[in-house]
Amino acid sequence: MRILSGIQPSGVLHIGNYFGMMQPAIALQAEGETFYFIAEYHALTSLRDPKALRENSRRVALDFLACGLNPDRGALFRQSDVPQVAELAWILSTVAPMGLLERAHSYKDKLARGLSPTVGLFSYPVLMAADILIYDSDIVPVGKDQKQHIEMTRDLAGKMNEQFGQIFKLPEPRINPETQVVPGLDGQKMSKSYGNNIDIFGDEKETRKRVMSIVTDSTSVDAPKDPIKSTIFQLYSLFASKGEIESMRERFEKGGTGYGDFKKELFEKLWEYFSPMRKRRKEILADKLYIDNVLARGAKRANEIADQVMERVRAAVGLR
Ligand code: ADP
Ligand code: TRP
Repeated sequence: MRILSGIQPSGVLHIGNYFGMMQPAIALQAEGETFYFIAEYHALTSLRDPKALRENSRRVALDFLACGLNPDRGALFRQSDVPQVAELAWILSTVAPMGLLERAHSYKDKLARGLSPTVGLFSYPVLMAADILIYDSDIVPVGKDQKQHIEMTRDLAGKMNEQFGQIFKLPEPRINPETQVVPGLDGQKMSKSYGNNIDIFGDEKETRKRVMSIVTDSTSVDAPKDPIKSTIFQLYSLFASKGEIESMRERFEKGGTGYGDFKKELFEKLWEYFSPMRKRRKEILADKLYIDNVLARGAKRANEIADQVMERVRAAVGLR
């Protein structure tokens, strides 16, 4: 079984990325060969700063490895080390209906946030389909916001198969219901681009400040509070044990504890949770060649598969 996912180096990784995609992706390493990549071409649709793109890309690799990704169980690589994917995106774009792309939520959301409507941004899902199909992927672990993109990938694969014979496998998304949308400081979906993020490897002072700035309602200390509606409680539930979660739930419902105290508990749990990963991150950083070696090995393996699939595609459409 082949498992594939990508993450854009458009900023620094946050706990929404961790619970929505990275942790499930790491867990899936027990079930098959994994292909995880740094989606630099996708990041170019929103980031036009070469220095930042280079730095973020390295940092995504570092953070993913620090969080437990095992490079011996699968490939970790840069999207741009497999440029054949852009060729496949072009071929897919020739069967991609405009109407399908026009219905993409993420495109509409990005325009609403002020990104300029470029052709790249519009055809983003076609490149993502190419990423997935070029490795004959079976399963794609992602957060819920990516679900529509995987449905579009299945549509495009189906169209190609109809036109040219059986070329592609249809991939399945893998979305963890408990962590499908991790809320940010303001209660909206946590995102690098909304400024409501808590980073996985933020420094201690900044992380504490961010946790303390989680938006709450104006319920007084004494009054009972609704845990289900609280971002603090939702985030705490990601890090704490069952017993700890129940204890916090009871204290919410009983009243007598202020949001400030709950935030302090959340910070402590979160900080402790990532402590072994911070240690691992330091070890990786001390080995100057480690990341380059991992990425080079990953690129080699990814190219082996991509070359095989592209032979098949080129022959099927008549380019060979
Ligand atoms: P961002 O929105 O911060 O730019 P990306 O779009 O790069 O994040 O997402 C990378 C991966 O992390 C995707 O699989 C996405 O679904 C997942 N993800 C991002 N934010 C969240 C969140 N708040 N909750 C759950 N998953 C998320
Ligand atoms: N669009 C994804 C995101 O923003 C990143 C991505 C690019 C991806 N190509 C992919 C995810 C292929 C899964 C599979 O998070």
